Amino acid sequence: MFGKRGSSGNGQFGQGGQTEQGQVHKQPQPDVAPKKVEVAPSVELKPKQQVKVVPEPAQPVVEAEPKRSENYYDVKTTVFNALIDTIDLTQLANLNNDAAREEIRDIVGEILAIQNVIMPISEQEELIEDICNDVLGYGPLEPLLARDDIADIMINGAHDTFIEVDGKVQHSSVRFTDNMQLLNICQRIVSQVGRRVDETSPICDARLPDGSRVNVIVPPLALEGPTMTIRKFKKDRLTLQQLMEFKAISPEGKQVLEIIGKSRCNIVISGGTGSGKTTLLNCMTAYADKDERVITCEDSAELQLQQPHVVRLETRPPNLEGEGEITMRDLVKNCLRMRPDRIIVGEVRGPEAFDLLQAMNTGHDGSMGTLHSNSPREAISRLESMILMGGFALPAKTIREMIVGSVDVIIQASRLRDGSRKITKITEVIGMEGEVPTLQDIFVHDIVGEDENGKLVGRHRSTGITRPKFYERAQYFGEHHRLTEVLSNAEVTDEHGNPLGEAHV
Ligand SMILES: Nc1ncnc2c1ncn2[C@@H]1O[C@H](COP(=O)(O)OP(=O)(O)OP(=O)(O)O)[C@@H](O)[C@H]1O
Ligand SMILES: [Mg+2]
Repeated sequence: MFGKRGSSGNGQFGQGGQTEQGQVHKQPQPDVAPKKVEVAPSVELKPKQQVKVVPEPAQPVVEAEPKRSENYYDVKTTVFNALIDTIDLTQLANLNNDAAREEIRDIVGEILAIQNVIMPISEQEELIEDICNDVLGYGPLEPLLARDDIADIMINGAHDTFIEVDGKVQHSSVRFTDNMQLLNICQRIVSQVGRRVDETSPICDARLPDGSRVNVIVPPLALEGPTMTIRKFKKDRLTLQQLMEFKAISPEGKQVLEIIGKSRCNIVISGGTGSGKTTLLNCMTAYADKDERVITCEDSAELQLQQPHVVRLETRPPNLEGEGEITMRDLVKNCLRMRPDRIIVGEVRGPEAFDLLQAMNTGHDGSMGTLHSNSPREAISRLESMILMGGFALPAKTIREMIVGSVDVIIQASRLRDGSRKITKITEVIGMEGEVPTLQDIFVHDIVGEDENGKLVGRHRSTGITRPKFYERAQYFGEHHRLTEVLSNAEVTDEHGNPLGEAHV
C-alpha cells in the first residue's frame, strides 16, 4: 500500500514526471540566470578559534522559477476560456493522461495561432504546460509538486505562495488566477479522501496520492482566501547517516542514537514545527529487529519503516455528518490488543500520551513518539498536561512518576534560525528528586558563532557522562562496550568549549 503511494503511478500525480521526461520541453529562460552552487568556504570563527569547523556540505541546486509578465496571465485566461469553449470535457475524461495532454496541446496551439498571440516560443511552451496542469492536474501547483528540493508549500490565497527550500522559506512566483481556481484545486485534493471544504466545513486535512500531507483552511476562517499547506512527502526519508553528513548530529552522537535504538529504550522525540521530528523518528525505527511486530499510529501516514512485520494505522476524521471519528487514543488503545512489540506514535498531542506511557511501561520496550516542545524538560511537562487534560484524575506526582518510569530518552530536534536542522540534545530521564523529574544531558549542541554567509557555526559535545542510566539496558543487548568507547572518546568540553579534563563516570 505504501509503495503505491510513493510511486507516481496515480494518474494526476504522474503529470509532473511527464514534464521532466521531456514530453513538454521547458526552454531555459533567458532572463533567469542559472543559480550557482556555492560551497561554503572554510568558516572563520569569530569568538572561538579553537573549535574545528568543517564546512557544511554543498546545498543542492535550487531550480530557478520562471518570471512571468502580467500579459502572460491575461493571455492564459483568454486561451483557457477559449479552450473550455472548444473541448468536450467528458470526452477528454475518457482519454488517458498522455493522450489528453496531446489533445490539449494541439487545441491550445491552434487557439494561439487563430488569436495571433505573439509570445516567445519558450513562454508558449510554459503556457501550454500551465493550461494542461489546470485542466488535468493541480494547476499552478504542479511544477512545485514535481520538485524534490521543496519541503513545504504554503499557499496563502491566490497570489501568495511560499516554499521552503533548504530550511529557508521563500516567496514563489507561482500564482493562481483567482481564489476560485485555488478553491477548486483544494476541493479536488480533499475530495480524493472523501471530504469537502466550504463555509460549513472550512478546515480539512487530506493527503495527496503520493503521500504528501495537506491542510486546507478556507474563508471565512482564512481571511486571505483559501490557504493550503503541503508537507511534501520525501520518497527517500533521510537516514541517520545522512543526518550526520548534514551535520545535524556528530558521528559520536549518531552512534549513541544507534545504541539507544538497539537497546530498545523508550524514546520521546521533542521539537518545534518542521524541526525534523518525524524524520528522526523514522531513523530511530530503523533499529527495530526484523522479527519484531511494530505498530505505527499516525494522523497522516508519513513513516517509512523497512521491517517486514509492520502494521500501519491511521486516524480518521469525522465524516461530513460529524460521525465516525477514530482518534489517536482509539488507535493506541487498540494497538495494545494487537500484540505489538513496539508502538510508534507519529505525534502525541492529547490523552493518547497516557496510553503510550502505559504501553512503554508494560513490556513494549522500544516504543516511541514525537511531540511539540522546545526542550526535554518542556516535553515532560507537555506529557503531564496532555494526561491531565485527558481527564485522568491522578495527582501530578503520580503522573510524573509514570513519565519517569516509562520514558528513557528524550531527543530534541530544532530548526535553527539559519534554516539548518539539528539534533540539539540527547537527554535521559533518570528519576525523581522530590516531585521533580531529573534529566541528564548526554549530548548537546552549542552555537559558537556565525560564518560570513550567515550560517550558524555550532558543534555537538558530550557532557562527559560515560555511564548513562541506560548502560544496563545496553549491556543486556550487548552494546555496552561500544557505548563506553563512544562516550569516552567523544569530545568533552564545557559550554564555552574548554576541555573538561577527565570525563566523570
Ligand atoms: N537534519 C535535517 N537536515 C535537512 N533536512 C531535514 C532534516 N531533518 C528533516 N529535514 C527535512 O525537513 C522537513 C521537515 O521534517 P519533518 O517532517 O521530519 O519535521 P516535523 O518536525 O515532523 O514537522 P511537523 O511538526 O510539521 O510534523 C522534511 O522535508 C525533512 O526531509
Ligand atoms: Mg511530523
